[in-house]
Amino acid sequence: MTDSSTPPSAFGTEHEQVVFCHDEASGLKAIIAIYSTALGPALGGTRFYPYGSEQEALADVLNLSQGMAYKAALAGLDLGGGKAVIIGDPNTLKSEALLRAYGRFVQSINGRYYTACDVGTFSPDMDIIARECDFVTGRTVEHGGAGDSSVLTAFGVYQGMRASAFHVWGDASLAGKTVGVAGVGKVGRHLVGLLLEEKANVVVTDVYAPAVEALKEKHPEIRVVADTAALVREPLDIYAPCALGGALDDEVVGVLSAKIVCGAANNQLAHEGIDKLLEEHGITYAPDYCVNAGGLVQVADELEGFNFDRAKVRAAKIYDTTLSVLEHAKSEGVTPAVAADRVAEQRMREVGRLRSVWLPKS
Ligand SMILES: NC(=O)c1ccc[n+]([C@@H]2O[C@H](COP(=O)([O-])OP(=O)(O)OC[C@H]3O[C@@H](n4cnc5c(N)ncnc54)[C@H](O)[C@@H]3O)[C@@H](O)[C@H]2O)c1
Repeated sequence: MTDSSTPPSAFGTEHEQVVFCHDEASGLKAIIAIYSTALGPALGGTRFYPYGSEQEALADVLNLSQGMAYKAALAGLDLGGGKAVIIGDPNTLKSEALLRAYGRFVQSINGRYYTACDVGTFSPDMDIIARECDFVTGRTVEHGGAGDSSVLTAFGVYQGMRASAFHVWGDASLAGKTVGVAGVGKVGRHLVGLLLEEKANVVVTDVYAPAVEALKEKHPEIRVVADTAALVREPLDIYAPCALGGALDDEVVGVLSAKIVCGAANNQLAHEGIDKLLEEHGITYAPDYCVNAGGLVQVADELEGFNFDRAKVRAAKIYDTTLSVLEHAKSEGVTPAVAADRVAEQRMREVGRLRSVWLPKS
């Protein structure tokens, strides 16, 4: 979460639009932020979270919506970046009335913002929001939605890992490589399955014992270590952070033997400069928002009427995107994190500019 000591302002950022939504009767307090619609309507999930203050919620939504714009741009999607936050504890505040009130506010933006699931919101919630609103993705399969996005998120991370392996070792195969997966929740456990299929050696950890036990039962060949601190000290070829943000700090980089970091977690770099430190330690970092875009590709596909096979083909392109980011970084002498930002910014600039080419109304 964010530091609330310095209240952010919606102005002074590069965001296009920030909408504050309030419905007193249902207790709804939400903020919708649109960072960019240069490439298309802004798409991003709704985070339902008990923020400590409205400033904290605003800082989070501004930050997250910008991240979505970069993720969509790098993934080659015709989508901009947006995000929404609902302030409050979803376990006590969430109700049909609140979600429908929220849906009416999303509807009022008239398609400049499409919502989806995020922390604290799930596909059945999207079905309720959609009763008031046409601009909803991440719906249940029964309602034509894509369902659980973690399947293609894991598949995309796996493709990013293979591209990184090719970049580092000249061979995309992960057979015989040792991969450490921190966090075996929805994404991590699918990733483990893909790695084992390719005959990689897998070491895992998770703070939630039942998640590890269930995975060990399904795949007895995996090795389990006590915690993330132990995992990063293991002899690894690849480290895959698949739990929370901030996974890569000075201490972790100092002890990692892995030559590649490639995982699903958002915002892995704990602070500015960590990307440089990774490089100094000879570790190739596959940028988080480059490799974890499979879930976004999946919900974006819903806009065309969901087709899993088509979405999977699109998610497989994460291999090429990762490789080109790593090659760009090498040729330009910048870190992969900087290279990813540059490629995303260039696409927003160049394709966004085409809107200035006048077309007659169809
Ligand atoms: N689900 C998606 O489609 C998707 C898409 C893009 C990015 N992500 C990101 O990937 C990450 C994982 O997402 P998910 O959907 O699998 O979430 P999840 O909540 O299902 O799984 C996270 C797992 O990490 C474990 N965990 C939490 N703290 C830990 C710690 N300190 N050490 C070890 N394990 C810990 C949890 O117990 C849980 O099992 C998140 O950062 C998420 O933002 C997910």
